[in-house]
Amino acid sequence: MITLIENGTLVTNLETFQADILIEGEIISQIGKDLQHPNANIVDATGKFIMPGGVDPHVHLDLPMFDTVSSDDHYTGHKAAAFGGTTTVMDFVVLDDKGFDYSVDVWMKKAEKAAIDYSFHMNLTNFNDKIAKDIPSLMKMGIQTLKVFTAYNGRLRIDDGSIFKALRIAKENGMLMMAHCENGDVIETLVTDALMAGHTTPEYHAFTRPAWGAVEATLRMAAMAEQADSPVYVVHMNAGGEVDMLKYAREHGVKVMGETCPQYLFFTIDQLRQPDGAKWVCSPPMRTKEDNARLWEGLSDGILQTIGTDHCPFFMDGTKPIVYEGSDVFIAGKELGKDDFTKIPNGLPGIQDRMPILWTYGVGVGRITANQFVAYMSTNPAKIFGLYPRKGALAVGSDADIVIWDPAKKMKHGVAHSHQRTDYNLYEGWDLTGYPEKVFLRGKLIVDGEEWKGSRGDGKFLKRSTGEIL
Ligand code: URP
Ligand code: ZN
Ligand code: ZN
Repeated sequence: MITLIENGTLVTNLETFQADILIEGEIISQIGKDLQHPNANIVDATGKFIMPGGVDPHVHLDLPMFDTVSSDDHYTGHKAAAFGGTTTVMDFVVLDDKGFDYSVDVWMKKAEKAAIDYSFHMNLTNFNDKIAKDIPSLMKMGIQTLKVFTAYNGRLRIDDGSIFKALRIAKENGMLMMAHCENGDVIETLVTDALMAGHTTPEYHAFTRPAWGAVEATLRMAAMAEQADSPVYVVHMNAGGEVDMLKYAREHGVKVMGETCPQYLFFTIDQLRQPDGAKWVCSPPMRTKEDNARLWEGLSDGILQTIGTDHCPFFMDGTKPIVYEGSDVFIAGKELGKDDFTKIPNGLPGIQDRMPILWTYGVGVGRITANQFVAYMSTNPAKIFGLYPRKGALAVGSDADIVIWDPAKKMKHGVAHSHQRTDYNLYEGWDLTGYPEKVFLRGKLIVDGEEWKGSRGDGKFLKRSTGEIL
């Protein structure tokens, strides 16, 4: 298949310019003015922006949690991602007691229905001599990243000594540690206190996970990274103070990078106080307007490196079906915690929302530039996670993962045209200006306006190698 995209305005992380793009097979073969090819399908992109497909470094598909599972799987979540302009996602493998090989195999099987390209991070939720010895085997499987947690005591957390040892192993093997930063000990005490006092509503999810815990844990993680001389990537940064810690550590030469997510830029604890507050329950929680503002500064000033989604959707009311591809689907969701905030599944939808929302409410209002948008949404995650320039680039030889973006398209966002498999949208009724019009995955048109042209099995597993430290 040969496709010539003509007359578009290319937007990369660094520049914006007029050019045509020739796609031959799965690859971009030429970029330039007035390109010609006798057998090409012509796509006229006059008035449109052309960007590299989005790279979402943080999603949770088909993730078991409490007594349910996140409601998008490796087909439905990928399809939703594509409609929002994302063509590569990175998902987290749950570490089973049977070890890395077994755990990765379970996730490989889940992802056989992949509709876009994908790779995996490994949750390092246990640590002992055998695991330490086996970590380098992940690198051979193309899994270059380990996620550790400083919260979820007794479940996902490993102690700081183990984190420090794992950082050293990561350094020796060209791997990158990702860190969920909160203070697990403080959270356990506050949750016990809240439940003893009879506080069961969603806002207590936020009260029991204070911002200071995130701030302190971010600095602690940066300090451990410095002492191990190993890089670290702080996921889902949510508190303004974390941006301050990131800036401080980076200014002192620490190889620390940061990701935020759209929800932390727009929402506050006030959402958790609403009657439908459970919709906004995720960990770490929503903070304050001041935190939103400082995170925006982190993006506009280039202190942060990426915007991921932490897409981990649940139904608001999983007792009632929605129609998905013609069939009724319902999956237990937030109603599990109606009498106890600690039983609300943690996580939010956002895989499709990320690029359109950040375009209108980031680029459109002047908070970030279009080039920063491409950097945060695509190029930087591709670089950090060892996929660049195959992904994240409009360049000759790169995979032809391309979004044709219509900057004039106006719509009201919400569940009506969302492909995220859940019964609500955090941005319901928000006005959008600008939306993906066509999305190509390795040269194949998979989204054409409202039409889905992709299919199960289109997505490839991406083996990753050592990435860049930005
Ligand atoms: O609430 C969230 N974020 N659920 C997903 C797990 C995580 O910690 O990222
Ligand atoms: Zn996390
Ligand atoms: Zn997550």
